[in-house]
Amino acid sequence: MMARDIPNVFAGKVITIDGPAGSGKSTTARLLAQRLGFEYLDTGATYRVVALLGKRHNTALSDDKQVDELLTHFDVHFEFRDGVNHVFLNDEDVTTQIRTPEIDKLVSPVAAHAGIREFLVAWQQERAKAGNVVLEGRDTSTVVCPDADVKIYLNASLDKRAHRRLVEYESRGDAQSMDAIRTDIVRRDHADTQRTVGPLRCAADSVVVDTSNLTIEEQVERVYQMSLARLTSQATSSSKEE
Ligand code: DC
Repeated sequence: MMARDIPNVFAGKVITIDGPAGSGKSTTARLLAQRLGFEYLDTGATYRVVALLGKRHNTALSDDKQVDELLTHFDVHFEFRDGVNHVFLNDEDVTTQIRTPEIDKLVSPVAAHAGIREFLVAWQQERAKAGNVVLEGRDTSTVVCPDADVKIYLNASLDKRAHRRLVEYESRGDAQSMDAIRTDIVRRDHADTQRTVGPLRCAADSVVVDTSNLTIEEQVERVYQMSLARLTSQATSSSKEE
């Protein structure tokens, strides 16, 4: 679909997509944003960059001063090129460096840190306030943009999610066993849902989509059609109220 064919109801809107690791939300959010000509905000990447910075600076997360100092180095932007959402820390492309099994592990304590979450949520809100954006993460529908126009919660079975991660690692030449991936996903699900700040949960007003048996194209189409239906009904009810 060409940008000019996008229905008006999408103009200026905020769409949030949350879900556990491997639910397909990154690819879905990126392709949906591309289809709508929206900005794509990968909030997980911001936590990953802080984990990378913490590793480089050898930061003790228990030390507030060290964490504050660490966050002064957070200067991130995204560039969409060749179908890839490149993540830059200052001028350094860290896209692959933030997606290693090591960062997968280091990021959980970073994501559970109240001060870091407060900083990153404010950064994400600033980026989202102009609208025309698809945000993707764990708390984008509940904390970052609780007033989003469309909220989606993607889920999939553990086996499907582990298999998707396996394929993702393999495509980067990173051999991992299915068992190790499954164990890591269970660990991350637990960390994501049990932390006290910004836990992963489905907002009461999110539309839930189970992606276990959907291809990426089907996921994007479903999310697009759901978003269109939601926004159209919102536009109809607000015009009736006027
Ligand atoms: O989606 P991802 O795997 O790139 O996310 C990386 C980590 O960051 C993951 O452990 C969950 C966490 N995260 C979060 O706590 N809140 C978000 N909005 C996005 C990600």
